[in-house]
Amino acid sequence: MLDGSARIALKTDPRFDRYVFIERSAVRCAELEALKTEFPALASDIKIRQGNANTEIQELCRKDWSAHRAVLFLDPYGMQVEWKTIEAIAATKAIDMWLLFPLGIGVNRLLTRSGEIPESWRRRLNLLLGTENWYDEFYRVESTPTLFGTAEDRVVKATTETMGRYFNERLKSVFAAVADEPKVLRNSANCPLYLLCFAVGNDKGAPIALRIANHLLTKGLQ
Ligand SMILES: C[S@@+](CC[C@H](N)C(=O)[O-])C[C@H]1O[C@@H](n2cnc3c(N)ncnc32)[C@H](O)[C@@H]1O
Repeated sequence: MLDGSARIALKTDPRFDRYVFIERSAVRCAELEALKTEFPALASDIKIRQGNANTEIQELCRKDWSAHRAVLFLDPYGMQVEWKTIEAIAATKAIDMWLLFPLGIGVNRLLTRSGEIPESWRRRLNLLLGTENWYDEFYRVESTPTLFGTAEDRVVKATTETMGRYFNERLKSVFAAVADEPKVLRNSANCPLYLLCFAVGNDKGAPIALRIANHLLTKGLQ
């Protein structure tokens, strides 16, 4: 059994001043509560918030962050994180964010090969990407002349690399700095599943935070 991210955070030395774990499932919240017994010295600084991470994080971000700094790890299974939440995190100018972006397991699946996308999927992508202009970025129409003087139109879908680059650029539009080479996490068949992105909240800390993150993204993660 590998340690989950909550336990890894609690084992980090030097320790953090406070730990906030946000989880929707009551069962998983109970498991997180049990960590207080496992780490008694940290128990009074562990806060578990059961709820939707978008709502909870946006509420946390509305507080006064001028005297605080934080690292946030957003680890969704799928497309749950909303762009509004990412904007709220960036607006604190105090939070460095690691995010597993659902590149292969989410975005690439919703972007159909034909370019015809059901309305509910479009809405999901709008929420995740915070804009409606993604369609023009991810699809183009290629026209090939035929022997008969007419043209044949073909919809061409972007590669997952283009999708990843697009999202990283979106992050750059709101954060002080963003790691240029997010790490692609692949399955055993070498298909991209997630993109591990890193964004820095505050200008002042940006150079050192980027240096550390770039080291982890290129050498430190297996
Ligand atoms: C990939 S797991 C997190 C694993 C964890 N980081 C670890 O290392 O053990 C994703 C978790 O997000 C929770 N979740 C899914 N949607 C959520 C939401 N909208 N708000 C809060 N938690 C959510 C799921 O119940 C699940 O426990």
